[in-house]
Formats: sequence, C-alpha cells, structure tokens
Amino acid sequence: MKPRDLSDHVPYRAGRGVEEVARDLGLDPEDLVKLSSNENPFGPSPQAVGAIEAKAGSVHTYPKAAHADLVAALASEWNLDTEQVWLGPGGDGVLDYFARAFLDPGDRVLVPNPGFAYYPMSARYHDGVVDQYSLSKEDDFEQPADIVLDAHEDHRIVYLTTPHNPTGSEIRLDDIETVARETGEETLVIVDEAYGEFTDTPSARQLLDERDDVAILRTFSKVYGLAGLRLGYGLVPKSWADAYDRVNTPFSVNLLACHAGIAALDDEEHVEKTVETVRWARRYIHDNLDAPTWESGGNFVLAEVGDAEQVAADAQREGVIIRDCSSFGLPECIRITCGTRDTTPLAVETLNEVIEE
Ligand SMILES: Cc1ncc(COP(=O)(O)O)c(C=O)c1O
Repeated sequence: MKPRDLSDHVPYRAGRGVEEVARDLGLDPEDLVKLSSNENPFGPSPQAVGAIEAKAGSVHTYPKAAHADLVAALASEWNLDTEQVWLGPGGDGVLDYFARAFLDPGDRVLVPNPGFAYYPMSARYHDGVVDQYSLSKEDDFEQPADIVLDAHEDHRIVYLTTPHNPTGSEIRLDDIETVARETGEETLVIVDEAYGEFTDTPSARQLLDERDDVAILRTFSKVYGLAGLRLGYGLVPKSWADAYDRVNTPFSVNLLACHAGIAALDDEEHVEKTVETVRWARRYIHDNLDAPTWESGGNFVLAEVGDAEQVAADAQREGVIIRDCSSFGLPECIRITCGTRDTTPLAVETLNEVIEE
C-alpha cells in the first residue's frame, strides 16, 4: 500500500535548530547565535510563560473556554465580532482552514515567487493548482498591484505577503484594495501580515468592513515569541465567518497556547522592547553589513552576498546561523533575522569576515 500521488508536494524545509547545529559542530548551543528563522531574540513574552506555568495542571481538559476567551480578546483588540476571528495552530494552520473553506479540487491559486513556502503546499494539500507571480530583484521586490493583476486569471485565492518574507518589501493598502477589486468577487485575497507588528504600514483590517473577499493572517510566533506553541489567527469578513465551524479541527488550538496568547496580548513591555529592537537592528544591519541590503518592514533583512550557501556554511562554522535563501530561488542572498543589541553586531561582524573571504 502507498499514499496517494504526492509527487507534486514539496516538503517544507525549516531552518536547522540550534541543538542540531551545535551537535554537528561540537559546540554548546549557548555559544551559537541563531538568526535564521525570524524568531524573537528575547524569547517568549514573560507573561505568556507565567500563564503556561499556571495552566500546566489543566491540560487534561479540552480548551473550550480558553479558546473562547482568546477569541474574545482578539475580537476586542481588532474591533470585530468574535466569529470573525479564526484561531489556528500557527498561521500555517489558518492557511489550511482558508484553503479548506475555499478550494474545490482543481481550483487555481496565485502565490508570490519568491515567497513563503507553505502557500503552495497548503493549496496542493487541498487539491488546488498553483500559479505564481514574480517579484523582481531589479525592482527591489516591490509589490505594486500590477504585478499580481498581470498574472491573475481565474484564481480562487491570491496570496499577498506584507511585509514580505524573505525580502521585507511591503504592499500599500490602496494596492491591496486594487488587487481585491480587480480580481473580482469570487477571488479571495489573503493578506498575510505575519510580520505586521514590525511595520508602520497600516493593516488591511479596515477592508474587512468594506469587502467580503479579503482575509488577514496574523501570528503569535513573531512579536510575541510563541513560535513553539503554534498559535495564529485569521481575521475574516462577517458574511462568511461562520464557515470556521465547518472547516476547523476540533479544539484546533491547544489549551496552553490559548492561555499564553491571552497573556501575551497584555504584555506591552515585551512587545515594545521587541519592536523597538527590531527597528534598531534593521538599521544596524543596513548600515554595517558589507553587502547590499533591502529595506525591510519585517524582523529580518535580506542581503546579497554572492554565494549564499557558502556564506551560510562559513558563518555557521563561526557560530552564527542565518538563512541561505537558495530555497527561495535567491541563491545569492541570505536573510538575517534581527537579533538583540548584543547578537546583531556579533552576527554582522562574523558575516563581514566570511563575506570578504
Ligand atoms: C510570511 C509568513 N507567513 C506565515 C508564517 C507562519 O507562521 P506560523 O505558522 O509560525 O504562525 C510565516 C512563518 O515564518 C511566514 O514567514
């Protein structure tokens, strides 16, 4: 017996973990600087950690009330009705819920190239057919509405990322609105704002009051530092919000994640420190790395270094782990996650040494 034909499916390749790399190099994980997965260098929100510890003894129960409480907190934060908040196991899980709710077998979707690998994966799991629109390096990976619309035909879902991973480029709200309008009423535009807290560009939230063909993706993995818990959410128009109950997994978000999420939303100190340090680190990397970089709205910076695989391998030997962007189709680029005021200069110094070699 065999699984169905999965030959079109490409496995997700996550950046390697600190423990894995430390073991290979015979080093203590504490001696490594990991800036390869856009994680929060300050760790999780301390208030979230407190909530996890406090609720650990309750994990024998299903998370019904905790789920409702987190949804209520998010609905209040975004000034939406509770059914307009779709919780999921990470932003990835929410992408699956959108695909389940919208794709019939053979429906086409449009994803950015380069772009976040899980869009095409999720669409294919749900028997969708994947097309791409291209962001070009020559145009600094800019994302005007035209580049999406020129590639658009009869797509059922169009994925937009702002700030964009791995390039950091952003989409103006009026461009998002143009894409939504011009792609027609039966095309869902997913605006992925996984890195939305790190930019001043306004969220697409206001479009939810005006349109029913736009949905937004947000995550607790980045600014709240809860990547390991797998907690994300969608914000969706009122008219089809009740589809959630028909597509989600029973108790899709675990109890500790729900409680941690509620606590993290209140942890202003952690959010402010994180955002402020990201802004500083982006500037530091732009100003001090001996390689061309692109402006970024996210908690990372893309840089052109020649042979990215070699630079990543050399930096790793020196204890600095960054992301080789070959898998994004950018073999000459690396992506550096913003670290702390200690680790960012250390990473830049190491990279400058290995880039020069
Ligand atoms: C652009 C983008 N969207 C969504 C996600 C999903 O994040 P998570 O599943 O951790 O919430 C990521 C993760 O890195 C991302 O880079």
